[in-house]
Amino acid sequence: MWGEVCYCKRMLVWLYQEAVKLAKSIFEAIKERRSNREFRSDPVPYDTIRQIVEYGLKAPSAGNMQPWGLIIVKEPEIKARLAKAAFGQKFVSDAPVVVVILADPKRSAARYGDRGSMLYCIQDTAACIQNMLLASVGFGLCTCWVGSFDEQDVASILNLPGHLRPVAMVPIGYPMESNLPRGSRKDRPWDEVVKIIE
Ligand SMILES: Cc1cc2nc3c(=O)[nH]c(=O)nc-3n(C[C@H](O)[C@H](O)[C@H](O)COP(=O)(O)O)c2cc1C
Repeated sequence: MWGEVCYCKRMLVWLYQEAVKLAKSIFEAIKERRSNREFRSDPVPYDTIRQIVEYGLKAPSAGNMQPWGLIIVKEPEIKARLAKAAFGQKFVSDAPVVVVILADPKRSAARYGDRGSMLYCIQDTAACIQNMLLASVGFGLCTCWVGSFDEQDVASILNLPGHLRPVAMVPIGYPMESNLPRGSRKDRPWDEVVKIIE
């Protein structure tokens, strides 16, 4: 009996996730994505996180070098230490999952020298991060790109080998009911940022 209830619950969660995915076009996801710093404590299924990361790994990269690494953190003590390394941004540890995205400058440098290690590997990981932010919207999840942290601290918390550079942390979780709909954001005017050459 109890097993059947659990099965039905899992089915309902799966159906909900599929419905959310079907309901959102890429355009809607781009428009809807906002940084969110409040998360429900509900766990995010591993399969969902895996799919989000896989969408991240589909990002373009210079020469298809894929100079990235990702660490999925669910362990509360490590999340708390990451939040501290992010200068006390507590919402990092409030999220049920934090994905830390690493760049591998050596991998890009092997092909592109300084331009690879200083620019391409950072651009490539940024594309990977953005893919994950958008995919998260598709699953009804919310995220925040966190780039303000002490790199040395994060490297030591995660025992990173010296050649890997932590670029961002992305806390992922379900939004608080009270947090929706989110306020509008002020975008810079088109004419200020776009120039057309005809
Ligand atoms: C490179 C980068 C670093 C960021 N670092 C942080 C951060 O450390 N903490 C934070 O709360 N938000 C951070 N953000 C999120 C921005 O504050 C946010 O994207 C911006 O205010 C626009 O709001 P929106 O994401 O809701 O559209 C970062 C975003 C980027 C792209």
